[in-house]
Amino acid sequence: MNLPMAPTLPLTGPQAGHSLDAQEIRELSEQVRALAADRNAVILAHNYQVPEVQDVADYVGDSLGLSRKAAETDSETIVFCGVHFMAETASILCPEKTVLIPDLDAGCSLAASIDAEQLAEWRARYPRGVVVMYVNTTAEVKALTDYCCTSANAVEVVRHIYATHGADTEILFGPDMWLGAYVEKELGRRMHVWDGECHVHAGIRPSDIEATRAAHPGADFLIHPECGCSTSVMEYVAAGDVSSEGVHMLSTGGMLGYAENAEREAKGSQAVVATEIGMLYPLRMAAPDVEFIPANAEASCQYMKMITLPKLRDALLEGKFEVRVPEEIAVRARVPIDRMVALG
Ligand code: 13P
Ligand code: SF4
Repeated sequence: MNLPMAPTLPLTGPQAGHSLDAQEIRELSEQVRALAADRNAVILAHNYQVPEVQDVADYVGDSLGLSRKAAETDSETIVFCGVHFMAETASILCPEKTVLIPDLDAGCSLAASIDAEQLAEWRARYPRGVVVMYVNTTAEVKALTDYCCTSANAVEVVRHIYATHGADTEILFGPDMWLGAYVEKELGRRMHVWDGECHVHAGIRPSDIEATRAAHPGADFLIHPECGCSTSVMEYVAAGDVSSEGVHMLSTGGMLGYAENAEREAKGSQAVVATEIGMLYPLRMAAPDVEFIPANAEASCQYMKMITLPKLRDALLEGKFEVRVPEEIAVRARVPIDRMVALG
């Protein structure tokens, strides 16, 4: 394969301590697109990626949408602009393809909150339990899981299990306790819930919602169910303190759906966004007439921000860093992922 040679640009960007200027973004983006075409690569980016990475990607979306795109692509190479478990999921779904991540250190505190040994011990305590794990987990954990889910389909996946395995089924849900509490509340049933959390979403507290409610009384609320404020917002709704009509518990993809709708129907409205702040960029692009206000402007995921245009360019240029899940794990981990994709 003949790869175009990149002119030697200095390694600039957030990792070098300053942002890229418009000219650097233009040049790097052109190199990335040329290299992707030459390598027959598709670039998938999560909604939390920096704007210039979202702009150069072939597809931007939430965890579920990205898994779907990975599963259906014809490209030989998938470059995952997201975190490590997402690249692993793509490798499990497409074992014949080359999956690259531009920075191997792009991890996830939520995925790190349970390992395979801990899950095996937990399972052993509830031998009849059905294990549902958020997709934010390692491949080894998925290999011990019955069903994966994302925030977009967690309620549907658990509802499906009660419908097919029986209403008394014991469910072991993990690793996110806030998402687990949300699913319990939606379905009115208790599960065994692991006490893990994402440090970014857990840091969005009820006090952030109080403050933004006071400052923007008419605004809608878009709340990611991983947030530390999600339980209290559900309580406000149940108590009638907040109108249920204005509160939307959504995955990042669901938030984008809200924005597209709001742009069509309610120009000039306001929405408070409780999730990682990278989400503000696609929301504002989708609905320029809606004012999106972060619930907590400090809620930034340092792992997602490790992916930069220079690293993406180098990943395509040098074919690094490959993420490949060993076959014996991939075969078992694929089952719960396939169920998740099918049920979404
Ligand atoms: P979704 O994009 O599936 O809502 O997930 C959010 C997240 O935290 C991914 O790391
Ligand atoms: Fe993981 Fe939280 Fe970052 Fe998402 S925002 S990748 S859940 S640490």
